[in-house]
Amino acid sequence: MKFSIASLEDTAYLAEVLASHLRPRDMIVLAGDMGTGKTTFTQFFGRALGITEPITSPTFNLLHNYGSGRMALHHADLYRLERTGELADLGLDELQDIGGVVMVEWGDIVGNELGDALIIRFAHPADVDAIYSRSIEIDLRGQQWLSRWQKVSDELATKFSDLVRG
Ligand SMILES: Nc1ncnc2c1ncn2[C@@H]1O[C@H](COP(=O)(O)OP(=O)(O)OP(=O)(O)O)[C@@H](O)[C@H]1O
Ligand SMILES: [Mg+2]
Repeated sequence: MKFSIASLEDTAYLAEVLASHLRPRDMIVLAGDMGTGKTTFTQFFGRALGITEPITSPTFNLLHNYGSGRMALHHADLYRLERTGELADLGLDELQDIGGVVMVEWGDIVGNELGDALIIRFAHPADVDAIYSRSIEIDLRGQQWLSRWQKVSDELATKFSDLVRG
């Protein structure tokens, strides 16, 4: 699926729709260049889950955990991952096993290692003047989000008029 967003409010809407369909054990991979909005998206997503702690970028610690929302959120950033063993050390699959939701910035750099996931790719559009615009591409890996996907895409299509499915 592909569509464009034009504002921070659009990013918040995307986060709210996805958060409203969230289930324990979900994995969301956030891909895209620096400054495209991965952390900003996570902040809106956390707010939609009722998280009251401030959500900050886990660039240096690799993993932050938030327990105050209606589901536990584990927010990782693999940008500084130096060896593949470090990914196993984070224990993301164990956090999923106990019902946590895992959101991973730069999660695409480890290929398919994170398993079934919703993959959201953020990009700056070609028009550099449009500072709040982003192009968004969402793909599903595995079965995890499949049964919800029709509803999610219908809700997104009501807001994003250029949305193309597939
Ligand atoms: N529509 C938008 N959605 C998200 N962020 C936006 C949007 N428009 C402008 N921005 C701004 O772009 C910046 C995105 O920074 P953010 O830290 O979220 O990027 P990031 O993808 O997490 O980068 P990094 O790879 O360094 O972690 C923020 O300053 C945010 O306010
Ligand atoms: Mg970030």
